Amino acid sequence: MAPLLRKADSGDLETVLSLENACFTDPWTPGMFKSALEGGSFEELYLLEDEGKCVGYVCIYIFDDEGEVMSVCVHPGKRRLGYGKMLVDRALALMKERGVKDVFLEVRKSNSSALALYCGAGFTLIGERKKYYRHPTEDALVMKKSLKE
Ligand SMILES: CC(C)(COP(=O)(O)OP(=O)(O)OC[C@H]1O[C@@H](n2cnc3c(N)ncnc32)[C@H](O)[C@@H]1OP(=O)(O)O)[C@@H](O)C(=O)NCCC(=O)NCCS
Repeated sequence: MAPLLRKADSGDLETVLSLENACFTDPWTPGMFKSALEGGSFEELYLLEDEGKCVGYVCIYIFDDEGEVMSVCVHPGKRRLGYGKMLVDRALALMKERGVKDVFLEVRKSNSSALALYCGAGFTLIGERKKYYRHPTEDALVMKKSLKE
């Protein structure tokens, strides 16, 4: 069966936190996931499940015709299998369906795997934010993809 993308809810908090802590040096706290998991906010979190197991997630933000890929991650034991690309492609398709015209994201300057993933999905560099990240401190690259025909 093809991997399934499903919207996460508050019952998924533990799964999401365990993935988050395995993937990032500066993980989001439970509070930061609260609005995305409880609904009713602009943030939405989707889990990618393969054979019933969560292999990754993507968190997006939609406001009017602008979207943002806030975070994407794949379980360390499941990388280079195409799940990251699947998460980004499905998130973009979902945003397009919802009328989003431009999608933005920020990524650590040194994160070559994520940069390759985003460039492959059609994002281009539009700017930098100095010392944007902590643990460790690092600049962010700002990228954009247009979903207009
Ligand atoms: C970035 C990340 C999501 C990629 O997930 P993944 O499932 O391994 O990616 P995929 O297998 O779908 O790869 C898609 C493309 O991404 C690029 N890529 C992924 N991992 C890469 C690596 N280690 N080195 C170079 N390019 C890489 C490649 O272009 C790849 O295409 P290809 O396989 O045709 O060469 C994953 O490495 C991850 O979770 N990293 C930690 C969290 C993170 O940094 N998230 C992004 C910042 S928000």
